[in-house]
Amino acid sequence: MAFTNELLENTDYTKQIYLVGGAVRDKLLGIPIKDRDYVAVGFSENDFKHLHKVGKSFPVFLQKDGSQIALARREKKIRHGYNGFSIEIQQVSLYEDLKRRDLTINAIAFDEATQTYHDPFNGIQDLENKTLRHISEAFCEDPLRVLRIARFRARLGGEWKIHPSTKVLIYKMRDELHFLESNRVYKEVEGALLEQNSHLFFESLFELGVLDVIFPSIYALTTLKEGNLHHLEASVFAHTMEVLKLVESKNIKSDKHRLILKFASLYHDIAKPYCYRNFGNSKGHDNLKIVTPLLDIALPNAIKTPMLLLIQNHIKIYLLSKMRPAKCVAFFESYKKDSTLLELQITLLLADKQGSISFEAQQKFSDSNFFAVRTMLLNAFKALLAYSPKEWIAQNTPSPSAIKAHILKEKIRILKGILYF
Ligand code: CTP
Repeated sequence: MAFTNELLENTDYTKQIYLVGGAVRDKLLGIPIKDRDYVAVGFSENDFKHLHKVGKSFPVFLQKDGSQIALARREKKIRHGYNGFSIEIQQVSLYEDLKRRDLTINAIAFDEATQTYHDPFNGIQDLENKTLRHISEAFCEDPLRVLRIARFRARLGGEWKIHPSTKVLIYKMRDELHFLESNRVYKEVEGALLEQNSHLFFESLFELGVLDVIFPSIYALTTLKEGNLHHLEASVFAHTMEVLKLVESKNIKSDKHRLILKFASLYHDIAKPYCYRNFGNSKGHDNLKIVTPLLDIALPNAIKTPMLLLIQNHIKIYLLSKMRPAKCVAFFESYKKDSTLLELQITLLLADKQGSISFEAQQKFSDSNFFAVRTMLLNAFKALLAYSPKEWIAQNTPSPSAIKAHILKEKIRILKGILYF
């Protein structure tokens, strides 16, 4: 395997295809490669006319194995926004294509034929030193790169450092961050939340001094310390990050459910600063009328609706033993027939409690003690689902209001037989 970091001739347009971007980075890191992107130097669109063209603003071609080939390009920022670039594809060298990229670790090219790495910006050294460093001032041209850096830390871990010069540059980009498009922000957050260290995404943005610009409601959590019987953490933000960490360790199979739980963890206390400011305490922070306008990420409904249910119920589940029986029935029914959602609620409850520094015995919320509570709640849910009034109705032909009263009475009876608190 050969390595070269000599500056490739700016004017070398010899026809050649290189593996680039995340695939080379991840290959060198020894982690699974997601997508394979190639860059073609010295070629024209005509050379790839047998392939399906997918790029809109610049030519990208899809290969049969799912990998993509893009013509080498130069970019110049001409206006705000994702598409605000002028693109040049005539006579672009490998060096020029690599130079327009965000980080040194993402600007290494690999020639598969000769097994040679081309590394003009010392990305390999930065990989070894676990350093995220911008290549040039052109980093500022795409504000999404700030979120990408934070996401890379969420993926690679806290031992990865952002280079001081990159931190300075990012702080200068604060104004540009207002122009981030909400769908692109969502995609980055989604990616970050699916990583093992998703709390590092938000902690990095906070340390970079830009959390307030991109996610003002999440930033507000850093400004509130509750300091009461239940919460002695440094701030609601510190507690939220702890909850995110705790749910990370849970083995949740589908990405959709992991996202629902992660977003619910992120936003479960989002209304606390508002409630303290307006009511002097945290009462009402589960009220969706207060919570919903504070969501600073544009979530798809398939995530948002179940997430809001988890937030609405995150205190109720804790207070079930004190609730009137009819309210208990309504609590279980709010999950419709979705027992997975109730399981996520229980996981959130455990993380919420374990992620708090409180005067209550932490042992009460240990995983093993909690297992019995979890089983009890899921059994109650299943028993309610299994109940059917059909037979009783057939025998008694009652009025609609009598049916309603009977169903409620029966469901309360079922719950009383299972819930032992
Ligand atoms: N790139 C960039 N600026 C961006 C997005 C991408 O410079 N805003 C460059 C980087 O060189 C990056 C490559 O394009 O490595 C491919 O981008 P993409 O596939 O979006 O990301 P990856 O770096 O491959 O990261 P991931 O594995 O998370 O997709």
